[in-house]
Amino acid sequence: MIIRQERPEDHAAVERLTLAAFRTFAFPDGSRPERPCEHYLVHVMRDAAAFVPGLALVGEEDGEIVCNIMFTESRVVRPGGGELATLTFGPVSVRPDLQGHGLGTELINHGLNRARELGFGAVVIVGHPGYYPRFGFRPAGGYGLAMPDGSVMEPFMALELVDGYLGTGGGKWYADEVYEIDRDALAEWDAGFGEG
Ligand SMILES: CC(C)(COP(=O)(O)OP(=O)(O)OC[C@H]1O[C@@H](n2cnc3c(N)ncnc32)[C@H](O)[C@@H]1OP(=O)(O)O)[C@@H](O)C(=O)NCCC(=O)NCCS
Repeated sequence: MIIRQERPEDHAAVERLTLAAFRTFAFPDGSRPERPCEHYLVHVMRDAAAFVPGLALVGEEDGEIVCNIMFTESRVVRPGGGELATLTFGPVSVRPDLQGHGLGTELINHGLNRARELGFGAVVIVGHPGYYPRFGFRPAGGYGLAMPDGSVMEPFMALELVDGYLGTGGGKWYADEVYEIDRDALAEWDAGFGEG
């Protein structure tokens, strides 16, 4: 698999891939969302100030995009008011017929290594607690971090790209607001989305 930065001409294929991948998505309790929103998220994320173009990556096999990952900047607000820059990724998608063959692992590891090369210090995510520890993610609560509402749930995880970067000061973690999907805008955009 060739992993490279996404190009404008990839956008439509990445959105179709994201929809296909998230049709297979199930929450840890086995339930499934009625209609995925991640293909719309991918669409709007590229215009967000927090978007990191150098970390919008696609995996290509035989000239076809088979997986993708995107990162945004996020932040920790310290109890005293200071801020710490963090990174967040998602969605991450692998073509359904290729899932479970290591592509996701290769792509995520590639993205994390590239993020380290670009100078980012830590990645904080809300993701499947059965999947992400293999990349080194640990419960974010162990670093004194909490969600904006103060909660510390199991899928809330952090990975230091630079040892000690998160320190011991803790704080509340904020993802970019692009993740707060405008349901009306989604429905309108989705109505015109070719199923591919
Ligand atoms: C999640 C995803 C990116 C993983 O990529 P992949 O190439 O299928 O995964 P890999 O082959 O690298 O790794 C396989 C392992 O991941 C686990 N895994 C795959 N999808 C998982 C999920 N949604 N939750 C938990 N574990 C998952 C498998 O059980 C397997 O575990 P094992 O190694 O202990 O047997 C891919 O399955 C996918 O696109 N899923 C649908 C969309 C999604 O859920 N994205 C993640 C949320 S942002």
